[in-house]
Amino acid sequence: MTLSLRVRAPAKVNLFLHVGERRLDGYHSLQSLVAFTEACDVVHLSFAEELNLETSGRFAQGLPTHNNLVLRAAQALASERGVEIVLEKNLPVAAGLGGGSADAAAALRGLNTLWELKRDNAELLNLAATLGSDVPACVYSRTAWMEGRGERLTILPPLPPLDIVLVNPGVTVPTRDVFQALNMRSGIDMMTPPRSEIRDVWDLVSYLADAGNDLEAPATVMFPTIDQVLASLEHEPGCVHAQMSGSGATCFGLFQEGPWAQGAAERLQLDHPLWWVTKTRFAGPEFAIPEIVI
Ligand code: C5P
Repeated sequence: MTLSLRVRAPAKVNLFLHVGERRLDGYHSLQSLVAFTEACDVVHLSFAEELNLETSGRFAQGLPTHNNLVLRAAQALASERGVEIVLEKNLPVAAGLGGGSADAAAALRGLNTLWELKRDNAELLNLAATLGSDVPACVYSRTAWMEGRGERLTILPPLPPLDIVLVNPGVTVPTRDVFQALNMRSGIDMMTPPRSEIRDVWDLVSYLADAGNDLEAPATVMFPTIDQVLASLEHEPGCVHAQMSGSGATCFGLFQEGPWAQGAAERLQLDHPLWWVTKTRFAGPEFAIPEIVI
């Protein structure tokens, strides 16, 4: 019997994000290429009689431990069971990285194993969709083509472990308000999934071209500091693409191979001590598989 599991909850990055019509259920149709990074929260799960959540890590402060999405995920999976959950919150909150969704998805993956429930992927994905638009993608935590309101997914070949720098200026962004403030929508028929394998950063940048993120403009109007983050990334030597992820405020920079990303991350952190700056890489498909803790 497994006693303890450690499940990584990787940050989601929207490499592009196009928004279409607002649907009758209030959500917008969207189209996005999502990838996951080695920058992650970690969900620790151990057997217990009661369901309980503790938090730790840089961004634990102020996080709700009662109506947390992680607890809702556990209850949705098996309402009567207990588990001790420690959520190590390394990613900023309400940041466009799907952090809360990734945590809930990690809980679903981990508890399915810990409680030996043997739910198949389809069942986990259905449950995930009831918890939030980004949760299904985070259940996979693999490079995917995202449609619908976020729940329709096609798994794509993994991206190579390219260098990526994530920067969050420390503002929390309400996703719903950003969608509400949206004026210009690209629509959902502008892009198709990459036709050939993406082998390096140049392939990725030429695929993305000027696809962009439709939520960047409204988020920047609400939080002008996002513009400063983007400009700072763009000024860094070796940066070949800078863009906001999700509804913000986190922006990512893609870098040429070499020491560029590390150098940029160090400089940006030095110049902006209050920003969250992380140099990371795209995670491989094994990264989010629950690990047994001996
Ligand atoms: O699904 P989730 O709870 O993450 O969405 C938060 C809010 O973002 C929704 O209430 C909705 O206002 C907006 N949203 C949207 N269209 C989407 C996803 C989210 O309008 N596809």
